[in-house]
Amino acid sequence: MCGIVAYIGPREAYPVILKGLKRLEYRGYDSAGVALLNSGLKVYKKKGKVADLEESIVGKDLHANIGIGHTRWATHGEPNDRNAHPHLSNGGRLAMIHNGIIENYAALKQELLKNGYHFQSDTDTEVLLNFIEYIQVNNNCSLEEAVRIALKRVVGAYVIVLIDQENPDTLIAARKGSPLVIGIGKNEHFLASDASPIIEYTKEVVYVNDYEVAIIKPDELILKNLGNERQTPYITKLDMELAAIEKGGYDHFMLKEIFEQPQTIYDCLRGRLDADLGTITMSGIEKYKEQIMNANRIVMVACGTSWHAGLVAEYIFEELCRINVEVEYASEFRYRNPVINKGDVIIAISQSGETADTLVAIENAKKQGAIILGVVNVVGSSISRVSDAGAYTHAGPEIGVASTKAFTAQLAVLTMIALKIAHDRGSIDKERYHRLLHELNDVPDKVKATLEQHEHIKAIAEKYKDSTDSLFLGRGYNFPVALEGALKLKEISYIHAEGYPAAEMKHGPIALVDEKLPVVFVATRDSYHEKVVSNMQEIRARKGRIISVINEGDEQSTALSNDVIVVPEADEILAPMISVIPLQLLSYYVGVARGFDVDKPRNLAKSVTVE
Ligand code: M6R
Repeated sequence: MCGIVAYIGPREAYPVILKGLKRLEYRGYDSAGVALLNSGLKVYKKKGKVADLEESIVGKDLHANIGIGHTRWATHGEPNDRNAHPHLSNGGRLAMIHNGIIENYAALKQELLKNGYHFQSDTDTEVLLNFIEYIQVNNNCSLEEAVRIALKRVVGAYVIVLIDQENPDTLIAARKGSPLVIGIGKNEHFLASDASPIIEYTKEVVYVNDYEVAIIKPDELILKNLGNERQTPYITKLDMELAAIEKGGYDHFMLKEIFEQPQTIYDCLRGRLDADLGTITMSGIEKYKEQIMNANRIVMVACGTSWHAGLVAEYIFEELCRINVEVEYASEFRYRNPVINKGDVIIAISQSGETADTLVAIENAKKQGAIILGVVNVVGSSISRVSDAGAYTHAGPEIGVASTKAFTAQLAVLTMIALKIAHDRGSIDKERYHRLLHELNDVPDKVKATLEQHEHIKAIAEKYKDSTDSLFLGRGYNFPVALEGALKLKEISYIHAEGYPAAEMKHGPIALVDEKLPVVFVATRDSYHEKVVSNMQEIRARKGRIISVINEGDEQSTALSNDVIVVPEADEILAPMISVIPLQLLSYYVGVARGFDVDKPRNLAKSVTVE
């Protein structure tokens, strides 16, 4: 939700900021803007994508060695030029960018209105900025101090970065809840919502913690807490290459990320799974193994695609480990006063590691004595830092807004955790354990074989691209895959799609079925297969158009289907990592055929750092 970039140092700030904003555009693309400080503070902003901003300021004076930039995902106020960031304070001295939500902005605004302040935009950001200015003027204090005082009054989440006309060699930034990374160069600093705008300049970064204020000069970085105490910046080395955040010849990041999956799943298993030795090594989990093995229950907390991964994991953990598992939407879990007992194990699943609902849900659970394990993709992200332990998914940067490779990597990690616990608890028989380990090793190749069918899937997408509605059905391990297929299609192609357990369809959604409705069955061979085939019959009898994802030699399903996509067979526990691939490709090709920007679907953002 919103991308921020800032620069201070000897380079031209604008090109650094512009390139950074393009890399962060996955976080929001309703409007973009920059503020540059040279002889005077210049603010340029524009509704639309970063390219629209770029085009609108060709020929303007963009020379500066200090600047801030923002790409917005609207919360307060519609996406337009006026509400775009950066905002200027009433006195015209300060400019600010913000990612997050100031929940008590209405009360602060009233206070400012009474004191003669006026507002150009509908945003909470402009309120906070003027509140800071008001404090600075009234207390006759430094900007840094005004920021600290103001933030003590603020309820909500934020990363803010400010430029002060009167102090052209300093940026002030602060964070609570939303992410902020500072790259350390030679006499220069780079600030961004994630490391992607920084990586080509430096690999040394500092992840700013909640309630910290950063005072940044070209050659100096000072961190303080809100109580004005100096904090030691902890410098980390980025383990990421520039190529990982570029399209590498693909038309879209989404397609690139779908095709990366044989490698990302392999990377996820590498160094952890040794099928020949029969071992799974996960150091993060090792420390809490006893607690997990003896847990009365495990709660998976996540949102969106990660929540679907949690659902698959629920089936796996319950079957293999015989431990009670619940899967919770983080947004509900955090507010509904759930019963959490000391020793409960909470597994937070998140690609970004910054999803606000998931983050707060685990913070709350941690306070109540739960053990928090993170299954997270982004190294150093907030969720990974709040977690007691966990396992990274090692899928590399996922830039397409639709999550693809993160999902299969999450499944790979969760499967390994379940197998490890099941083995140590003795709840899985030895033969099955060893067979599953070997089969897990084969998953990257099976995913690769599935991807080879992309032309066939593209042809199916062309055939159904003008549908207005669709159903995705599956049972058992393939039920969450159906949910994920429906989510992918709706977010990328804007076709209404519902995912359902195939049997539950009879209790309502079957009323939708007619000769126009595409019904996608995820029907690979498993213990539910015959039942799923019966459900297919029911749809066929009502003239629905069936697209099925099946295994080789499934004559029955083939006869009932209008189109089939054949995927390699796998144990039902592992099948979701394979059966989801055609659904990702189908959504991608439908979205492209309908002419949409699949990497940046409307109204969405990659990282949901607001609740
Ligand atoms: O970064 P997270 O995994 O925590 O994100 C959770 C959801 O916001 C995310 O999966 C979202 O549903 C994707 N757009 C789905 O493709």
